[in-house]
Amino acid sequence: MNRLIRQGCLTDVRIEVDSAALRWLTMLKRKHPDTYEHSVRMALMAGRLSRACLEDPNETVALVAGCLLHDLGKIMIPADLLVSGSTYTNEQWSIVKLHPQLGAELLEIHRMANDEVLGLIRHHHERWDGKGYPSGLNGERIPLLARICSVLESLDSMLFNRSFGNKRTIQDAFCELERKSGSQFDGFIVERLMNRADEIIRLQFLFAHKRGVFL
Ligand SMILES: [Fe+2]
Ligand SMILES: [Fe+2]
Repeated sequence: MNRLIRQGCLTDVRIEVDSAALRWLTMLKRKHPDTYEHSVRMALMAGRLSRACLEDPNETVALVAGCLLHDLGKIMIPADLLVSGSTYTNEQWSIVKLHPQLGAELLEIHRMANDEVLGLIRHHHERWDGKGYPSGLNGERIPLLARICSVLESLDSMLFNRSFGNKRTIQDAFCELERKSGSQFDGFIVERLMNRADEIIRLQFLFAHKRGVFL
């Protein structure tokens, strides 16, 4: 991550992540580069868009760290199960779904993250309607930072992730977020992030033109 900061693309985003956690992230990069690249984009999006949803700068720091580390648990999932667009058997899907808990436990056991960051990691696949995993939490029972991460994750897959094939326009992505407001996503967060279309367009440009530099 120091290399990323030196290269300038993340200089405007404050990153406070335990150095041991960053070493794990480097291992994730070796094992599954796509997940690593997704994690870096998520951290940058979190830093650039957090003010739409959060007022406390400390919460922003936790959001950035959490987004950077949210899929760290995938380091313990077999790489052949992490290929984008895979169709899973029930057993394979149950293994992939372990990654939020595995990541949170890894960081918790070694005291590499605080409770806010751990809450984001553990619950980033919960849904507003309670149909997510691992705990089936609903509404505001889902930690706020995890609810934000969940919407950013969807934006990343629709707008920035090359492995998802045809990327959507921002208008299409916003329609999809609106459609899932109140079922998958917290409608308040969707609304606040959609007000930052200008910044999302800047991120699109950054990821399109500097991708090879900072990842
Ligand atoms: Fe993710
Ligand atoms: Fe995930």
